Amino acid sequence: MDNIQYIVDEVIGSRHSVRAFLPDQPVSKSIIESILAVSSRAPSGTNTQPWKVYVVSGKKRDEIVEKVCNAQLQVNADPSLKEQYTETFSYYPEKWISPYIDRRRENGWGLYGLLNIQRGEKEKMAAQQLRNYKLFDAPVGIFVTVNKAMGIGAKMDIAMMLQNIMLSAKARGLDTCPQAAWNHFHQIVLDSLNAPDDEELVCTIALGYADKNAPVNTFHTPREPVENFTTFLE
Ligand SMILES: Cc1cc2nc3c(=O)[nH]c(=O)nc-3n(C[C@H](O)[C@H](O)[C@H](O)COP(=O)(O)O)c2cc1C
Repeated sequence: MDNIQYIVDEVIGSRHSVRAFLPDQPVSKSIIESILAVSSRAPSGTNTQPWKVYVVSGKKRDEIVEKVCNAQLQVNADPSLKEQYTETFSYYPEKWISPYIDRRRENGWGLYGLLNIQRGEKEKMAAQQLRNYKLFDAPVGIFVTVNKAMGIGAKMDIAMMLQNIMLSAKARGLDTCPQAAWNHFHQIVLDSLNAPDDEELVCTIALGYADKNAPVNTFHTPREPVENFTTFLE
């Protein structure tokens, strides 16, 4: 195999969502800048480059984590508060259909199995959900926003940028977890970032060095074979 093909395939194939990071191993600003510089080579419709990126570490990271964890804890205590924290766009469908719901369930139970969470163990599930808002202990949170005036296509552009960030991080020995979970708390996040009112939170990425001893990081998800999702026509 051609060397560049091997490297690209290796980086794509080895990226996976990491849910336990080493909190005390910081990521240097120069590495993050180089990740973002190459990631901005992502294509975007008519080269609009609609992404805005907030890189959060140190005190600001801790402040956002604390505020959002507190909000989630309040929701846990009083589920009616959940209504206050609706996403600005629905990431998931309102009504699930097969086979997606089946894969979703398999994914959830696979993860919970590794974390030793059994059916009905609501407290443990809530604790794992809260780990999202601790960035899984990652020292860096990358919050990506878009101007609300942009169309749905801008979210496609941003998704490509996000994948570039995750792959170029992987190529530098770093790991990531993309997180839609934060979207529920977009207002708290955007206020803390001092983002202008016309911005919308699209996605968050936890970034850091993986804790290689954490069982949760041994979770590797399956993929359907090509013939199951592809139609070749001639
Ligand atoms: C846009 C997006 C949002 C996601 N949000 C979360 C999240 O909030 N919390 C989480 O633990 N994983 C989240 N994930 C990770 C997925 O569960 C994961 O990508 C999927 O199970 C496939 O596993 P892999 O990333 O290890 O290949 C998200 C993934 C994507 C693409």
